[in-house]
Amino acid sequence: MGAYPRTAETQRLVLRQFRQSDLDAYTSLLTEPEVARWFRIDSSFTRNDAWRHMAMLVGHWDLHGYGRFAVDLKSSGALIGRVGLWYPEGWPEIECGWVIHPSQWGHGYATEAAAETLRLGFASLGLTHIISLIHPDNARSARVAEKLGGRIESTWIDFHGKEALVYGYALSQSRHAHAGEVSAMATDNAGRNGRARSGEEDLDAERPAGDAR
Ligand SMILES: CC(C)(COP(=O)(O)OP(=O)(O)OC[C@H]1O[C@@H](n2cnc3c(N)ncnc32)[C@H](O)[C@@H]1OP(=O)(O)O)[C@@H](O)C(=O)NCCC(=O)NCCS
Repeated sequence: MGAYPRTAETQRLVLRQFRQSDLDAYTSLLTEPEVARWFRIDSSFTRNDAWRHMAMLVGHWDLHGYGRFAVDLKSSGALIGRVGLWYPEGWPEIECGWVIHPSQWGHGYATEAAAETLRLGFASLGLTHIISLIHPDNARSARVAEKLGGRIESTWIDFHGKEALVYGYALSQSRHAHAGEVSAMATDNAGRNGRARSGEEDLDAERPAGDAR
């Protein structure tokens, strides 16, 4: 076990911290209609809002020591998405979430990036359970969770009164012995991550559009 790394790499992707120069690409990512619809982002969402959102992602890393990565495609160096752990105040558990630019959908990038962030969550943070919160109509996202080994465990009503399916990934003890392997083995609801957490900011007010579904 150790610190959660601030950069990581998969076969086709680089996972890294967001930086100021991402602003245009990040604005474009969030305002793509097929992305925006899942995050309560509408036509009033501006580049300024995207900057504030990006700053919130960076701040989450300082507060928790882990957070969401910017996802670059190795082949082009382009920012194509955002993936990783998320745990604002009031969240039911540490969540793994994903967004990929629609021009890059269907290549397995969300699954590839998320698998690495889950692996790191289990191996580096000592977590035994991680969730994803997914809107019941979001079949693509649900498929990613399933491919990662997630299983529906419950539902959760978010701060806006919307229901999310709670997919759970649990670290099996046998796989834990081989830390470093992807081990998103869904089990039952037992074995929630037991790490005490306190002092998180309530980020919902700053979230222009929620951040889970
Ligand atoms: C969800 C999202 C991240 C997936 O990105 P991606 O890189 O295309 O994902 P992957 O390629 O790893 O996997 C997508 C899977 O969904 C499947 N899929 C595509 N369209 C689908 C549909 N309408 N219904 C069900 N499954 C679908 C794909 O076939 C693939 O599964 P497969 O590998 O078994 O064929 C992307 O669609 C996205 O950014 N959506 C908008 C934002 C969002 O919803 N984020 C999640 C909030 S919880």
